[in-house]
Amino acid sequence: MILVTGGAGFIGANFVLDWLASSDEPVLNLDKLSYAGNLHNLEGLHQDPRHRFVQGDIGDSALLAGLLAEHQPRAIVHFAAESHVDRSIHGPEDFIQTNIVGTFRLLEAVRRYGAALPDRARQGLRFLQVSTDEVYGSLAPREPAFAETRAFQPNSPYSASKAASDHLVRAWHHTYGLPVLTTHCSNNYGPLQFPEKLIPLMIVNALAGQPLPVYGDGLQRRDWLYVKDHCSAIRRVLEAGQVGHSYHIGGGNEQANIDIVHSICTLLDALRPRPDGQSYLSQIAHVQDRPGHDRRYAIDARKIGRELGWQPAETWASGIRKTVQWYLEHPQWVAQVQTGAYRDWVQTCYPQVPAADAAGEIRAAGSGA
Ligand code: NAD
Ligand code: DAU
Repeated sequence: MILVTGGAGFIGANFVLDWLASSDEPVLNLDKLSYAGNLHNLEGLHQDPRHRFVQGDIGDSALLAGLLAEHQPRAIVHFAAESHVDRSIHGPEDFIQTNIVGTFRLLEAVRRYGAALPDRARQGLRFLQVSTDEVYGSLAPREPAFAETRAFQPNSPYSASKAASDHLVRAWHHTYGLPVLTTHCSNNYGPLQFPEKLIPLMIVNALAGQPLPVYGDGLQRRDWLYVKDHCSAIRRVLEAGQVGHSYHIGGGNEQANIDIVHSICTLLDALRPRPDGQSYLSQIAHVQDRPGHDRRYAIDARKIGRELGWQPAETWASGIRKTVQWYLEHPQWVAQVQTGAYRDWVQTCYPQVPAADAAGEIRAAGSGA
């Protein structure tokens, strides 16, 4: 059995679904069900005896000790986190609690659990920390992509909290010999992503006739990775990664945000044309930039290719098509996650974006298309 934390969120749920599609090894899924955690993501596993879901907090030491003792997992894959940069700017406290304190409590619980295991089981134990490229800060336009040797330089409360948790993971290995693996990946996209992140927000807003809020000039660059490729890379690192090492995971697909938004609009124009015949591009609205916005991320994923033979399966063209199709085919999922709390967040984050009226018409979108 493996223990997955945060397995009701975007990447965690994709990981659990993919894991159980390719293996019969059971999953214990611990998730607090924050606004980002959603049991609808795991609907297909409702009656599956290989999946055991527990609603709980990674900061709850007693719960962790009990679950580890009862289920005796051979590995812990740690996704649970507060993950949204904009939310971390509006309210960093939850990021400190979950990403730093929560990871510390989890590491301590796993250290105690591991110490009590018989030799053979202790040698096979793994703790896999799922981290991000954001811990490295921002790249200059012509700088080479981030390699595993790059020093951390986090710029947002979110990335600082992830960097802090990565340092704890490293220290628990160095000091206590905890058998850890760390992965740093670039921006994920694909099915089940909460529509606060760029790609699902653009799809959902476009279809609702709402503005497409592009921060600043839209020339910030990100390196996009299809979520199923991220999941296959994590499985590979868990299977064959060298203890104490970190591995970069990327899709080899660096693009400016504005080009991402253009691709989505073009796909929607073809797959679900607007009734008025206009392009979705007309909904683009350049809005105030994110404070401290990192200009560029790019990931050098050669180590995982060279040492573990992993490569992404999707291209940008195939991945974004699948993603847009998925959102078109799952309007109920979108409706379910757009609760009152979601609408409050949209109001807090985008006060400067003109609202759409009841007919879905934008009243005063400053088009940057
Ligand atoms: P998400 O916000 O969609 O999901 C996070 C999950 O963690 C949710 O189900 C939430 O309920 C759960 N959770 C939050 N706090 C918890 C707590 N205290 N105890 C237990 N569960 C808790 O995030 P995601 O996009 O799926 O990201 C998963 C991991 O991958 C995170 O660690 C994130 O830093 C990392 N990551 C994400 C991306 C990306 O592009 N989304 C890229 C690089 C790294
Ligand atoms: O790089 C990996 C990181 O990617 C992960 O560690 C984070 O958990 C994940 O949230 C993501 O962070 P970003 O800040 O890069 O993702 P987001 O989708 O919020 O934004 C992507 C880019 O798009 C970023 O440059 C900000 C911009 N953006 C975002 C939103 C939500 C807009 O221009 N408009 C928007 O409305």
